[in-house]
Amino acid sequence: MAGFLRSRLTARPDPSHVPLPVISHPQSKEINHAKEGSITPLIYRYRTAIALLSSILLWNYIFANDNRNEESDLQAKTKAPMGDIVYGAKSKGDDTARLVKEAIQSGFRHIATGGFHFEYNETGVGQGWIESGVPRNELYLQTLFVSQSTENYGVLNCLLEAVCPPLSGMSIEEQVKLSVQSSLHNLQTDYIDSVLVHNFRAKLQPYEETLRAWKVLEDYVDKGIIRHLGIVSVHDKEYLTKLHNDARIKPTIIQNRFHSNRSYDINLRPVFKELGFEQNQLFWILTGSAGGKVRNNEVVTKLAIEKGVSNQVLLYSFTMQLGGTPLIGSKSLDHMKEDFDALVKNKLNLKRDELIAMASVLNKNLIQS
Ligand SMILES: NC(=O)c1ccc[n+]([C@@H]2O[C@H](COP(=O)([O-])OP(=O)(O)OC[C@H]3O[C@@H](n4cnc5c(N)ncnc54)[C@H](OP(=O)(O)O)[C@@H]3O)[C@@H](O)[C@H]2O)c1
Repeated sequence: MAGFLRSRLTARPDPSHVPLPVISHPQSKEINHAKEGSITPLIYRYRTAIALLSSILLWNYIFANDNRNEESDLQAKTKAPMGDIVYGAKSKGDDTARLVKEAIQSGFRHIATGGFHFEYNETGVGQGWIESGVPRNELYLQTLFVSQSTENYGVLNCLLEAVCPPLSGMSIEEQVKLSVQSSLHNLQTDYIDSVLVHNFRAKLQPYEETLRAWKVLEDYVDKGIIRHLGIVSVHDKEYLTKLHNDARIKPTIIQNRFHSNRSYDINLRPVFKELGFEQNQLFWILTGSAGGKVRNNEVVTKLAIEKGVSNQVLLYSFTMQLGGTPLIGSKSLDHMKEDFDALVKNKLNLKRDELIAMASVLNKNLIQS
């Protein structure tokens, strides 16, 4: 079974592998020892023409390959950037496809889902983006790698014939390969914009395990199957720094909660910058402590009325000005449209005194003096 699984997982053609043309050397032993009546004397007679033809083929190959590289650079340039806001497709069950389609039609372009995570319907995300009518290269599709040792692990998204459900006790390397192949299948795509290594509620999985998974993910980046790598729920500077140093392909996305019980990552945010993270995705903005504090707060309500938005949208906007990227999992079309409008299309821009007012409600250290 393990052998069969391995062959299934490696069956995908490796796009970086293009066979080189074989050129026979005219002075090779085989030709000199050619037997009467075989085709080899003919080859010998026309060896100059064959050598010339081979050279032309080789040059054609090299130029074609150069063009291919240019093409793939061009493709990379025309792929979607990370979004200013991200639609989180968690806990949407059978409504996932419809809600993802509505989010995209409301303007969201970056969608976050999960593979072997029991709270995501990854197939629904694949169906939703296709039904949206927006071309694949205008969308940024993100998924998770969830290891078997993580508490959110679930196999509902595993639909590959013969290898699903997977065996327990697979090596971490085999788990990553299965997860990536399964996500490609569910998302109906031949590349994934980002894969984030999941941790359950900041309970970090052993560092060595993360690193082994990371190395397999790096191979997929080399092959152009994954564009960016990231990690979830790490509030530990040492762990992040070690990963940054040990990784050949550096993590570019960190997804953490925006919560008072982690001091809103105030001290970590400069570390994310130092380590070159391009995006700090934030969840629990409305569903955690911050959302509770701003809901009926007078200062926030007054400012929200002035800006013509809800307290919730104002909080999202505040987190963006802190350098975060909100993960938004709304099930309401009105909220999706309202969020896209105020956070992307006609972006709110809070002034310094307004930012200080918001911080005074949550944690005054959020805005440095
Ligand atoms: N890494 C992790 O461990 C982790 C954990 C949790 C979540 N996440 C990610 O984060 C995403 C967001 O999850 P979340 O827990 O932060 O909360 P959420 O799913 O975004 O829920 C937001 C709540 O606030 C309400 N709301 C009110 N006004 C809103 C507005 N203008 N826009 C949006 N929502 C509004 C929503 O109601 P309506 O539905 O009626 O709009 C909903 O009840 C998830 O889908 C997932 O991708 C990750």
